[in-house]
Amino acid sequence: MSQNVACIGVGNIGRAWAIAFARGGCTVRLFDAMPESLERSLSMIRQSLEDLVKADLVQDADALMARIHIATTAQEAVDGADHVQESAVENLELKQKLFTELDAICAPETVIATSSSEFMSSQLIGDVQHPERIMVAHPFNPPYLIPLVELSGHTGTSQAVIDRSRALFEGIGMAPVVVKKEIKAFLLNRLQAAVVAESLYLVGNGYCSAQDLDRAMTNGLALRWAFIGPFMTGHLNASGGYRDYMRDDGYGGTYRRMIADLANDHEWDYSLPVAVSEEMEEMVPTSEVAKGQRWRDRRLMALLKHKRDAEDYSGS
Ligand SMILES: NC(=O)c1ccc[n+]([C@@H]2O[C@H](COP(=O)([O-])OP(=O)(O)OC[C@H]3O[C@@H](n4cnc5c(N)ncnc54)[C@H](O)[C@@H]3O)[C@@H](O)[C@H]2O)c1
Repeated sequence: MSQNVACIGVGNIGRAWAIAFARGGCTVRLFDAMPESLERSLSMIRQSLEDLVKADLVQDADALMARIHIATTAQEAVDGADHVQESAVENLELKQKLFTELDAICAPETVIATSSSEFMSSQLIGDVQHPERIMVAHPFNPPYLIPLVELSGHTGTSQAVIDRSRALFEGIGMAPVVVKKEIKAFLLNRLQAAVVAESLYLVGNGYCSAQDLDRAMTNGLALRWAFIGPFMTGHLNASGGYRDYMRDDGYGGTYRRMIADLANDHEWDYSLPVAVSEEMEEMVPTSEVAKGQRWRDRRLMALLKHKRDAEDYSGS
């Protein structure tokens, strides 16, 4: 993929995006309102690349670095860009202003996507001239390790823009999914919130420890969820496929009863997260969170390598 990409805002997510785009063959220009963020981002990108080389996920760190350039103005960053990935700080007013500015300085055919975790693209188009090229491309941290990117337009985003973005993200080896109608928090964070809500309910009401709840997830559901989702899981659990699995006199009925029994009071007292934290700290002390993050990323890299090398279903 030899497209030109501008990363606007290069904090945690913007600098990780730079790696994902450059690894995919794009030329990347970085711009940030804070010059010190720009300088810091280059050394942090190099550090991350060393880990990726060790994990055999990047072959030539120097070649990749050579595709990443610093721009001193937003205009310089977006000149000739096919795609602009905005990852400035999460503040609606700031993003609205920034989108108006970016829309004014980008060529009309440039796609402008926000990384926002919370805001929908319809909230950013108030004063823009070309709303049809504005959309959300929501990543997970860090996008060079987690391939999923959620693409979400507003009702005026053109289908061609969504299609081009999908092709770009697939072209750099990511796994885009399209959110067909705007919805708060998009897809994965809604799914995650449902699991977090029930986890807090189960631990908060004394059904299990926080450590056992995590153990149940990592030794149970998460093992297969790394390669098949909840629908394919059901499909492969019944000889007649998903329609058989979900019959009302089968697991469909079981799920209806289980779902009716799920917690629907999602309030909790802050003492609950504190108690959960104490259990987590027995395993990773707060002073070692950074070490824990590096361990997590190494495990993620190994899993990613396995997924990359693993065969897809081929029918044999
Ligand atoms: N951190 C995550 O886990 C995560 C995950 C998915 C999406 N996001 C989204 O990514 C975006 C960035 O989050 P982050 O965690 O990287 O934040 P961050 O605070 O680490 O970085 C934000 C950067 O934006 C820069 N900035 C502020 N105003 C700017 C402007 N007007 N123009 C250019 N740069 C500007 C800041 O100097 C900073 O370097 C947010 O919209 C967030 O919702 C974050």
